[in-house]
Amino acid sequence: MTATLNDWRVTTRPYYAPQADEITLFEAAYAARLPVMLKGPTGCGKSRFVEYMAYKLDRPLVTVACNEDMTAADLVGRFLLEPGGTRWQDGPLTLAARHGAICYLDEVVEARQDTTVVMHPLTDHRRTLPLDKKGELLRAHPDFQLVISYNPGYQSLMKDLKTSTRQRFAALDFDYPVAELEADIVARETGIATALAAGLVQVAAAARRLKGHGLDEGISTRLLVYAGQLIRQGVSVRHACRMAMVRPITDDADIRETLEHAIDAVLA
Ligand SMILES: Nc1ncnc2c1ncn2[C@@H]1O[C@H](COP(=O)(O)OP(=O)(O)O)[C@@H](O)[C@H]1O
Ligand SMILES: [Mg+2]
Repeated sequence: MTATLNDWRVTTRPYYAPQADEITLFEAAYAARLPVMLKGPTGCGKSRFVEYMAYKLDRPLVTVACNEDMTAADLVGRFLLEPGGTRWQDGPLTLAARHGAICYLDEVVEARQDTTVVMHPLTDHRRTLPLDKKGELLRAHPDFQLVISYNPGYQSLMKDLKTSTRQRFAALDFDYPVAELEADIVARETGIATALAAGLVQVAAAARRLKGHGLDEGISTRLLVYAGQLIRQGVSVRHACRMAMVRPITDDADIRETLEHAIDAVLA
């Protein structure tokens, strides 16, 4: 390992509460150097899981938050103009492939398809990355692994993963943790009492039942953690819930009212 990726090391053990056997399965996928896709709603623990696995496998982690303005060059690299001439700079994907990191492309459907195809050669058995502009065919470091995350909830014709991309990955399904585990996570992440965390989880359960009935996405574990953090700052439970769990997810007055009733019923 070169010193190059020291900044990308996960040096403190991230807290991750497993939902099922995903740790063992991911380890097997890593041992076989298979690319892995993590599927699930936003804020349910996918990124935390990758951080945990990078720590556990002792690999640096290079994370890229994908967006529609991202180009292939943003992933692969480009020549920079400098006073003395031009200098090649590896993009995050190249950096990870060259030095043996785990490269995590978060919310990969946000990127345009002409951007995501650049990762294809890294996912087949040759594990190469052509750097066309530079005239280099990079062979991935033996420890390199590609991981992508994907929220099937946003699926639409415009924003779906191409079959040719999808079929290159082994996949793990994620979802919000079961109630008891989710309450433990929220309590542990924020320091609020488990009973109160369980109440927040109950409100989230009510919101998640509204998915498809006016809500695109339920209240995520992440938002429950936000609510807990606000409560720890001294914000009242009701205000914290409104701020972290109601306003972010909907502008619809009726649904907001429904959720506020749920909060009063559960937590008042
Ligand atoms: N299984 C879990 N173990 C520990 N923390 C979790 C877990 N699931 C969710 N969280 C909490 O929820 C937050 C959001 O999770 P994150 O991994 O960022 O979601 P995603 O990447 O799926 O959008 C995390 O920062 C963490 O506080
Ligand atoms: Mg994430």
